[in-house]
Amino acid sequence: MVAQCGGECSCATCHVYVEAGDVGEPAEDELDMLELVAAERRPQSRLSCQLRVGPELDGLVVRIPETQY
Ligand code: FES
Repeated sequence: MVAQCGGECSCATCHVYVEAGDVGEPAEDELDMLELVAAERRPQSRLSCQLRVGPELDGLVVRIPETQY
């Protein structure tokens, strides 16, 4: 994965599809950046750098769009 901006929510190169797991709702700035993803945007699209790591992510399943690696 590229993750070009290093987690600053300013590049959208860390786009993933969250297939399972409780990751909460995206903030407004993440929603804005999701408008710029290179791969198809889907309802489960998220920027992985904006997901907070914690026990609630146990069982998390993400898929990486081909354009992101
Ligand atoms: S790494 Fe740039 S938005 Fe996630």
